[in-house]
Amino acid sequence: MDRIDVLISAEQIRTAVNRVAQQISTDYHNRPLTILGVMTGSLMFLADLIRQLDMPLQVGMIQASSYRGTQTTPGTLRINADFLPRLEDRDVLLLDDIFDTGQTLSALCTHLAAPAVPSASPGKPRSLKAAVLLWKEGRQTVTMQPDYFGFRIPDQFVVGYGLDFNNEYRHLPYVGVVHPVTPLPVA
Ligand code: IMP
Ligand code: MG
Repeated sequence: MDRIDVLISAEQIRTAVNRVAQQISTDYHNRPLTILGVMTGSLMFLADLIRQLDMPLQVGMIQASSYRGTQTTPGTLRINADFLPRLEDRDVLLLDDIFDTGQTLSALCTHLAAPAVPSASPGKPRSLKAAVLLWKEGRQTVTMQPDYFGFRIPDQFVVGYGLDFNNEYRHLPYVGVVHPVTPLPVA
């Protein structure tokens, strides 16, 4: 069994999610919002956050899978936007579990702001922002930054609250640092 040390407790997460929800409510000020969760890691953050939002809200999911070919180069990102609601003239907030290199959210923002295939396009959002639960320090390779975040964390591989290691541990109610018996993936 891998050893997992708690980094952020369920209680700390709850407090941070409430804070982010408050910031979003204040900023959007009852303007209709579309929150798009990035599958699969955002599932818990999405579920907990939207239940704290008392405002006009649509929710959708978008899939982004990165294939990291070698140890240091991020692979190409495959985006599946088939399940998106209409985004035309909507205020859109992308939601992901963690901002690591930033490649995923940066590519998704580019994709949504100027969709490559106009006929299949969900439409151009009026505004586009990003929120993450975790922001891993010192890893960014892009200029964009999340507009909302729960915690900054050191450069360690974490699991739980939606985040996985080989698809395990997403269900943990806390965020923990994993010390695997098998080697970690290198991003
Ligand atoms: P980015 O494109 O490098 O910012 O990576 C974002 C994605 O990599 C996240 O959505 C996660 O799926 C994954 N990821 C990055 N760091 C971790 C981690 O520490 N634990 C689990 N998944 C991670
Ligand atoms: Mg992810």
